Amino acid sequence: MAISHPEPSSVQHASAFEVVVATQDVRLHDEAKQLKQVIGKQNRPTTFIVYFGQGGVEIRRSNKADKKGHKVDFNTIDRRTGAGNLSRKQLFPKAIGNETKTVLDITAGLGADSAMLALMGYTVRAVERSPIISVLLRDGLHRANKNPELHNALGGRLALAEADSRVIMQNIDFVDVVYMDPMFPPKRKKSALPQGSIQMLQAVVGYDDDVQTKELFDLAMNTATKRVVVKRPNYAPFFRENPTFVHKGKLVRYEVYGAQK
Ligand SMILES: C[S@@+](CC[C@H](N)C(=O)[O-])C[C@H]1O[C@@H](n2cnc3c(N)ncnc32)[C@H](O)[C@@H]1O
Repeated sequence: MAISHPEPSSVQHASAFEVVVATQDVRLHDEAKQLKQVIGKQNRPTTFIVYFGQGGVEIRRSNKADKKGHKVDFNTIDRRTGAGNLSRKQLFPKAIGNETKTVLDITAGLGADSAMLALMGYTVRAVERSPIISVLLRDGLHRANKNPELHNALGGRLALAEADSRVIMQNIDFVDVVYMDPMFPPKRKKSALPQGSIQMLQAVVGYDDDVQTKELFDLAMNTATKRVVVKRPNYAPFFRENPTFVHKGKLVRYEVYGAQK
């Protein structure tokens, strides 16, 4: 993964962080050093620890009682084929398209969607602008590639970039499909908070604002040669009127917009 840290001002982490290093691993030491430089000195009470340990990088709440961290672990993805999770008959690959070969994921987050697509056989470039989430992603991919079976299943089809996708899309050759999954606020602030790693992701990067998301979409329409796919919770309004197709699941839907080219 190319590391070119985006301007700190374009990232806006929603919480404050402390970096803790508890490993001798040189790769992780370098990552921790770079991350400390990018996030700088935090002038507010820290809510999270980015913990560099023997088993990789994870995010923990500073609250000592909660030692449970979140890391990126592509090994937890159910890789059964046939009618299973990785079947091209699922809604997600249907939205991406069977003829599609290359996908640019412009909101990579914790990489679950990108990894799924790579495991399904698409060639994926995943872009994430948060330096903290990017460290987790790189570490997850590094560990995935150490596992021979997972390495084989990914087939070198997943590449990561730490950058603002708006910049990447102004400098990229065309791709078949641009995929975006912007962070959308929960339906009810208190009761509908999603659990686990998505909750952590929301606490780290906050919600994506509408103006920027629209900007991402417009650039995506100029970058994709086949289509742009937007993932939305079912309670959210349609991103644009008249999507070309909609693939609706129980909780989320994939809105497909035909590309302009
Ligand atoms: C809802 S999460 C995506 C979750 C992801 N689909 C997954 O499977 O884990 C949205 C992510 O997009 C990132 N993001 C938002 N705007 C971005 C931009 N302009 N460039 C790169 N990443 C961006 C946020 O930092 C956040 O991590």
